Amino acid sequence: MARRTPLMAGNWKMHKTVPEAVALARDLRRALAGVQGVEVLVLPPFVSLWQVAEVLRGSPIQVGAQNVWFEDAGAFTGEISPTMLAGWCQAVLLGHSERREHGHEDDALINRKLKAALRHGLTVILAVGESLAEHDQQRTEAVVRRQLQAGLEGVEAADPERLVVAYEPVWAIGTGRAATPDHANQTIGLIRRVLEEQLRDRRSERIRVLYGGSLNQQNVAALLERPEIDGGLVGGASLNAAEFSSMAREAARAKAVAG
Ligand code: PGA
Repeated sequence: MARRTPLMAGNWKMHKTVPEAVALARDLRRALAGVQGVEVLVLPPFVSLWQVAEVLRGSPIQVGAQNVWFEDAGAFTGEISPTMLAGWCQAVLLGHSERREHGHEDDALINRKLKAALRHGLTVILAVGESLAEHDQQRTEAVVRRQLQAGLEGVEAADPERLVVAYEPVWAIGTGRAATPDHANQTIGLIRRVLEEQLRDRRSERIRVLYGGSLNQQNVAALLERPEIDGGLVGGASLNAAEFSSMAREAARAKAVAG
């Protein structure tokens, strides 16, 4: 079985002014000095991204964007291109349920963005997950399969370290109701099988699949001790440096114990 380095990503969403974001980055840098056995990534709002990257330069913490456009440049008012991020920003989150819902992003648009981001050397975290209604109708498998197949259309597993999938059941995001370790582990196992089928490449087993949705200090160990779960995509709890850094250390410990 491939060994995968756990990854903890903090999605700051639309929180923190620029000075607050800089202060949080400074606190995180201090709190995560010397951390080992886990990769840590923060996703601040665009307006703070450059300054947060400056604060974190030379630290073990990477930075990523919460969105990107698919063209390199042009008349796309309000958008940010992958060329603008490449070289100093390591990653981008795509397919988050809040962008699918409020930004009306469909699988085809996400796929275009994903291919553009990969082409420019960015790591992509592709978020997938079923809504509450889909969950109740036992359609999780079909929904996740469709989101992966369409989102990864035309993509190869050439660089598995640069493709990350985050399983985020929509009903678990920001609700305080995380998925059970059994549900998350089982769905992530399914995601892994779909990745294998889709990419037709053994290297796909090196792709990390994270869990996201109401992860916190209390539940992170129980989820990450499960073999299929390679880390977490953390919203609310990532806005607190003490909590997020202790979750990152807990993730390293859980994966080291689980082997
Ligand atoms: P949450 O958000 O941890 O606040 O539930 C997770 C996410 O939406 O990425």
